[in-house]
Amino acid sequence: MNPRPHAIDDVVAILRNARHVVVFTGAGVSAESGIPTFRDALTGLWERFDVAELASADGFRRDPELVWGWYEWRRMSVMRAQPNAAHRAIAALAREVPKLTLVTQNVDDLHERAGSEGALHLHGSLFAPRCFECGQPASLAHLPDEPDGGRRLAPPRCSHCGGALRPGVVWFGEMLPEDVLGQAFEAARACELLLSVGTSSVVFPAAQIPIDAHRAGATVVQINPNATDLDAIADFNMRGTAANLLPEFVGRALPPT
Ligand code: OAD
Repeated sequence: MNPRPHAIDDVVAILRNARHVVVFTGAGVSAESGIPTFRDALTGLWERFDVAELASADGFRRDPELVWGWYEWRRMSVMRAQPNAAHRAIAALAREVPKLTLVTQNVDDLHERAGSEGALHLHGSLFAPRCFECGQPASLAHLPDEPDGGRRLAPPRCSHCGGALRPGVVWFGEMLPEDVLGQAFEAARACELLLSVGTSSVVFPAAQIPIDAHRAGATVVQINPNATDLDAIADFNMRGTAANLLPEFVGRALPPT
């Protein structure tokens, strides 16, 4: 269903006047780049596994090759993908509004590759591994030569202590990075407009961010083809895909070049 035309006009007017905008994104913003969502990524070799087994410290301890293989396969799918029109529209908006804070739950780097700077990655990154034992950050220089279906893979060793490297993402049962989360909440409470794009709004504490923005008086606009828990409090629920709707809002709100 397409949003009502006057709802789009209202959102464009709010966007034009906002001095501080928060854009809060989830897996849906990368869907049109062909990145499978978390649960959709459980295919092929990993079909019979539970997410808690693949995305937890216990799972990694039990079977590091399985877990590392899954993350390398996901990293490779991201490296093969390209940012889409929604990522680009967000980067363009950031260049025009007085202040924009980008908060993402995604572990891909498509916002950065579209030109966004300073995105707050609440759930970490596929590209920032660290040692499972000593926590020392590491880098992954090479594109993994992955078969399409993925494979089990031994994690590289830490150059500091020889421990196994783990992906730099937030796993089940782990805390979100405190400084990043703090900055996201601070922005949510200070902004005038929060755009929630492509998130099911069920995973806390991230899902609290638009709720706090609403409580602090911001206008909350949601872009999602499906209903979510946020529908009840959003001022505007725009039913459509991110790559369709965001460029339209942003294109109409920005000054013509
Ligand atoms: P989900 O997979 O839970 O939700 C994706 C949302 O995107 C759904 O509401 C879809 O309707 C919507 N969607 C799908 N295609 C879209 C499109 N083209 N445009 C706009 N929206 C679209 O993903 P997240 O909400 O990001 O956490 O999930 C949050 C967290 O749950 C993830 O970061 C991950 C997972 O557990 C961790 O890894 C810690």
